[in-house]
Amino acid sequence: MTEEPHTTIGRQDPIRSLEDLGAGRADAARFRAKHGRPFVVLSYAQSVDGSIAGRNRERIRLSSPESMALTHGIRALCDGILIGIGTLLSDDPRLTVTHACGPHPQPVVLDTHLRTPPAARLVQRPDARPWIIHKPGLPESRAQSLRAAGADPMPCGAGTDGWIDLPSALALLADRQVNRLMVEGGARVITSFVRQQVADLFIITISPQFVGGLPVLDAGAARGAVHLQLEEAFYQPMGRDLILWARPGWAPA
Ligand SMILES: NC(=O)c1ccc[n+]([C@@H]2O[C@H](COP(=O)([O-])OP(=O)(O)OC[C@H]3O[C@@H](n4cnc5c(N)ncnc54)[C@H](OP(=O)(O)O)[C@@H]3O)[C@@H](O)[C@H]2O)c1
Repeated sequence: MTEEPHTTIGRQDPIRSLEDLGAGRADAARFRAKHGRPFVVLSYAQSVDGSIAGRNRERIRLSSPESMALTHGIRALCDGILIGIGTLLSDDPRLTVTHACGPHPQPVVLDTHLRTPPAARLVQRPDARPWIIHKPGLPESRAQSLRAAGADPMPCGAGTDGWIDLPSALALLADRQVNRLMVEGGARVITSFVRQQVADLFIITISPQFVGGLPVLDAGAARGAVHLQLEEAFYQPMGRDLILWARPGWAPA
C-alpha cells in the first residue's frame, strides 16, 4: 500500500475556526503517532505588505483585540508553542494564554548557542519551565545557570546551516508528547519551517496597515527562492483584520 503524504491528514475536514481546531485534537495525536513529529500550526500576524515587526525588529501592534483573542485561543489548543531566540531577545514574551480561556502551552525556544538570558520573562514564569533547544557541546555553565533560573535546556543536533535541525527538534517534542505545536515566529523561524516544509496549517492575521518593516520571509534563512502555494484558503474577517486559514500545497519552486 502506498503511504499517503503527511500533509493529506485530515484534508477532508478543513480547519477554519477554533472549534474545528479543538475538534481535531485526536487527529493531532494520530498525526504524531504516525509521523513521529507534532502537527505544526504556523500562526503569526503581518501587515498587508508582509511585515511582522518594525524595520529594526521592534515589536509593533498588528493584531486587533479580536484577532489577539483568536491567537490566544490557538495557543490554548496547542500542546507547545515555539519561537526563535531572536523573538525572545527582541520581545521578551511570556507566551501565556491571557486573551482567551484555556491552558498555557509548553514554551519552546530554538536557541542554538544558549543565548537565552536567565532573567528572560519566559524563564522567570513561575508556572512553566521553557524548553530551550540548543546544539550539544556548549559550556555546561550556560545550561546550569538556565536550569537554576527555571528553564530546561535540551541538546539537539544542528543542521548543515548551523541552526537547530528542525526534524530532530520536532522528533524531540514528539517524544515529549507534543501532539500539536504552534510556531509563532519570528521571521527566520517561520522561513525555516516553510523552507523545510514542516508546517501543516497556516493561520495568518493580516492587519490593514503598511509598515515597511521586517519581512515575514527572511532572505538569509530562505537560502534561495521559497515558493509555497497555500490551498483550501479561507478568509475570515476578524475585527479590523482578516484571518487566513490555509493548508500548505508544497508546490515545487
Ligand atoms: N508579528 C508576529 O506575529 C511575530 C511573531 C513572533 C516574532 N515576531 C517578530 O520577529 C522578529 C524576530 O525574528 P527573527 O528572524 O529576528 O528571529 P527568530 O526567527 O525569532 O529567531 C531566529 C534565530 O533562532 C535561532 N534558530 C535556531 N535554530 C533555528 C532554525 N532551525 N531556523 C531558524 N532559526 C533558528 C537562530 O539564532 P541562533 O543562531 O542564535 O540560534 C536564529 O537567528 C521580532 O522583531 C519579533 O517582534 C513577530
